[in-house]
Amino acid sequence: MDEVLRIQNLSKNYGRVHAVNNLSLQVPEGSVYGILGPNGSGKTTTLGMILDVINPTSGSFTWFGKSASKENRKILGAILETPNFYPYLSAEKNLEIVATIKHIGYSHIERVLKITDLWERRKDHFSTFSLGMKQRLALASALLNEPLVLILDEPTNGLDPQGIAEVRNLILKIAASGTTIIIASHLLDEVQKVCTHVAVLKSGNIIFQGRVDEILGSAKYVEVGASDLGQLGEVLLGSQLASNVQKEGDRLVATLYDGVSVEDVSKHLFSKGISITHIAERKISLEKQFLDLLADTK
Ligand SMILES: Nc1ncnc2c1ncn2[C@@H]1O[C@H](COP(=O)(O)OP(=O)(O)O)[C@@H](O)[C@H]1O
Ligand SMILES: [Mg+2]
Repeated sequence: MDEVLRIQNLSKNYGRVHAVNNLSLQVPEGSVYGILGPNGSGKTTTLGMILDVINPTSGSFTWFGKSASKENRKILGAILETPNFYPYLSAEKNLEIVATIKHIGYSHIERVLKITDLWERRKDHFSTFSLGMKQRLALASALLNEPLVLILDEPTNGLDPQGIAEVRNLILKIAASGTTIIIASHLLDEVQKVCTHVAVLKSGNIIFQGRVDEILGSAKYVEVGASDLGQLGEVLLGSQLASNVQKEGDRLVATLYDGVSVEDVSKHLFSKGISITHIAERKISLEKQFLDLLADTK
């Protein structure tokens, strides 16, 4: 897979504050890459640097293998903060103004209004739009130049649940068309729902990065109930199927070895004559892992 963005040892200090500390990551083409971290962890600063609006203290990055240049900006679309549209102009008129400023032909306006599902509402004043529609118009505006990469900072901040759902669906739709998307978010749920990859930032440092499906899939647990937990524990430990057997109430929870399914465990227990009252797979949530990661590195 081709690499869209490569960041190498990027740092930004504001006086004694290390906003971003020696950050390195690669964004594969076609991914939806989440930069996840609590407030103040350096997400916006990182986006500012890769968009050439904040000067790095040290380090470097490349877009499609090339160093920063004005050419880069043409292939990027970004929403760093809520853009200002004119409240008493229509959606269409507002996009015409943006297109004029960015030297983009009006012919693109129909396309972006349709992608964002605002075509039917194009004649309506911006002021009559719901929050979700306003954010969708911001996305429409960022898509005018047909960017190869879309960069979004906290795209659902301040939206109501319906607006959040609209914007997330739109992000998935844009991603499905092949556009690479980079999203900074403090919301785990958001990253889990829309991102393929994630880098977790804490106080300017990356403490984890990987594929979202891998982190979700990597830690699989089985919980088993039986009348004789002592015997069950011994058989589980001797099974070569699971490790780290722990008691939780009237059940045992164990970590499955790679490639082992709950069915494998179930069959094994049956073959050893253990009668079980309950067996189920338990996937550790990204949230739990995120909290563990943040706690581990204190
Ligand atoms: N212009 C600035 N001057 C001084 N400190 C800043 C500036 N911008 C950001 N910071 C500090 O850098 C750190 C990271 O901020 P930021 O990148 O905005 O984090 P996030 O987007 O993850 O909330 C914070 O401690 C913040 O206070
Ligand atoms: Mg921010």
